[in-house]
Amino acid sequence: MKKSKVFLGIAAAGLALSLAACSGGRGGSDEGADAGGDIDKSAITVGVAMPTQQSERWIADGDNVKSALEDLGYKVDLQFANDEIATQVSQIENMIAKGAKALIVASIDGTTLTDVLQSAADQDIPVIAYDRLILGTENVDYYTTFDNYKVGVQQATSLLTGLGILDADGKETGAAGPFNVELFAGSPDDNNATFFWNGAMDTLQPYLDSKVLNVPSGQLDFEQAAILRWLPETAQERMENLLTIDGSAKIDGVLSPYDGLSIGIISALTSGGYSADALPVITGQDAEVGSVKSIIAGEQYSTIYKDTRELGKQAVSMVDAILTGEEVEVNDEETYDNEVKVVPSFLLESQIVTVDNYKEILIDGGYYTEDDLK
Ligand code: BGC
Repeated sequence: MKKSKVFLGIAAAGLALSLAACSGGRGGSDEGADAGGDIDKSAITVGVAMPTQQSERWIADGDNVKSALEDLGYKVDLQFANDEIATQVSQIENMIAKGAKALIVASIDGTTLTDVLQSAADQDIPVIAYDRLILGTENVDYYTTFDNYKVGVQQATSLLTGLGILDADGKETGAAGPFNVELFAGSPDDNNATFFWNGAMDTLQPYLDSKVLNVPSGQLDFEQAAILRWLPETAQERMENLLTIDGSAKIDGVLSPYDGLSIGIISALTSGGYSADALPVITGQDAEVGSVKSIIAGEQYSTIYKDTRELGKQAVSMVDAILTGEEVEVNDEETYDNEVKVVPSFLLESQIVTVDNYKEILIDGGYYTEDDLK
């Protein structure tokens, strides 16, 4: 595991920092390398900007980050932006104005934070990109997320398993199909969406080439499949349209990159004549409660579980390391190029969840209780 260092400039801080000789700005001088963690954390507020409360995952992320910061003694300014870019920008401006000493940001549109992050940088406020990469600025210090390409591979793999093209061990069964599938992608302004799509398409392409898979609508481009802002109702509308384009073709599978979209897709399918117990194989992401219940009920086929507790801890340990002058742990320094620089990242692992393993992964793993899923 590689490590890199960030040193916090203390000029503007006025804090009870005992960073003896730390004089460089972020990424600056080596002095103060062993400054130690002797700071008054109760005097430090960390700003946490989350995109929306419309999705359980982001509520959980916000709560997890907040409690992990509070456990370390920090104060927390947690804001959700209702998926509105302008709201997120002004929330971050407010955090800076109120004296936040570090920011953890899960962006709505990764390209829209350049100005506000410049003012963070001007005040030596370090920034962690949380789950979604912030694009087009040098003023993002670290990034923590999951292996997003692999998430896409997992989504496509579970689609292939659900269709019976692969067996439980990932081996080809020889099933010839052709299976009719339709493909959905996430929000084009979210850098993750392309990673999910690329991972999924690289996995599905051989089966499209060999005609084991067929896309009746012919809509195979990211732009055609993308759902702006990950809105369930937009996915529902697109699925309704696809059913009219596809005419009488029976759909066997739908690649969906997010549980919320899967809910919209399922609504379109059930109102379009598919019975709830004979739905296509539908994937998802985030293991949201409603969708895990849908998996248990035999509607949605799979989801991708990303332990937001771990992600929260990771982001908080990055912030804590920066603020205490410690080394920040990263495990990827090549994948996440934000168009200005490669942002040093810590990537976590995700898991495919189906009806066969949800108990073991989600309940035994303590993410949900049995009651949550009733
Ligand atoms: C996250 C996914 C989530 C999606 C929609 C992405 O950036 O990585 O976990 O499903 O946003 O909220």
